[in-house]
Amino acid sequence: MKEIKFEGKPYSALVFDTEEEIGRYAAEIVTKKLCEKPDMLLGLATGSTPVPLYRELVKACKEGKVSFKNVRTYNLDEYFPIDTKSPLSFLGFMRENLFDHIDLPDGAIHIPNGEAADADVEAARYEKELFAAGGVDIQVLGIGSDGHIGFNEPGDAYIYETHATDLTQQTIVDNSRFFNDISEVPTRAITMGIGAIMRAKQCLFIATGKNKAQAVKDALTASATPACQASILQFHPNTVFLLDQEAASLL
Ligand code: GLP
Repeated sequence: MKEIKFEGKPYSALVFDTEEEIGRYAAEIVTKKLCEKPDMLLGLATGSTPVPLYRELVKACKEGKVSFKNVRTYNLDEYFPIDTKSPLSFLGFMRENLFDHIDLPDGAIHIPNGEAADADVEAARYEKELFAAGGVDIQVLGIGSDGHIGFNEPGDAYIYETHATDLTQQTIVDNSRFFNDISEVPTRAITMGIGAIMRAKQCLFIATGKNKAQAVKDALTASATPACQASILQFHPNTVFLLDQEAASLL
C-alpha cells in the first residue's frame, strides 16, 4: 500500500494493488468500530466496488469475530420505482451480498422504499429517518464514472436533503450491466442527499478500476464543484480514500 498526499489538502489517499486488499483494509476499519460500538450506525453503498468489503464482513461475522445484532444500516439509495423483491433492486443486492449472511435484524435495515406510492414523499420520510438517526458512524461510498456519490448526479448544485432524481444516461449505461437490457434500467432513484453523507462521522470512500480514474482525479484534486459531486468530500473532516492502482492512475 502507498499513500498519496495532496498539496494543501488535509486528506490523503491509500493505494492498494488489489480490490481484495482494499476489502480487507476497509473491513478492518468497520469491524474495529463495531467492536468499539456494537450498536453503530452503518451507511452502505451498492455496486461492485464494495463487494470485497462485504465479503470480508460476512466472513468476520461467520467466524464469530463480530456481530451485527445491534447495528442499524442505512443505504445510500434505491431505484424508483423498482420491485424490492427483485435481485435487481438495491435492497435485493444488499440481501444477496450482505444482509442474508450476517446476524443483522431485518428491522435494522433502512433503505428508501422503491415501491412507495410517491417518490418525493418517500424521500422526505427517509430524510426524516436519517436526520433522527443523527449521522451514521461510518458511511461506505463508491463513486460513479461521472463522479456521483449515491445517486447525487452531476449538476449545478449540491442537494442537501434526500431526494428523488433522474439518472444520467452515463449512469444508466454504467448500471445496465446488472440488467438483461438497458431498457430495463430504472431511469429514476431516491438518494441520500449530500447532507446525510456529510453528517457521517467517517466516510469510507472506495474506488477501483480505470473507468473511475478521471472521477477520482476530479474529486480529489480539482476545486470542489457540483459537476463532480464526490468533490464535496474534500470538506468532510474524516474520509478515508481507498483506491486501487487503476483508479489512482491519474493522480
Ligand atoms: C451506483 C450507485 C453508487 C455506486 C455507483 C458505482 O450508481 N448508486 O452508490 O457508487 O453505482 O458502482 P460500481 O461500484 O459498480 O462502479
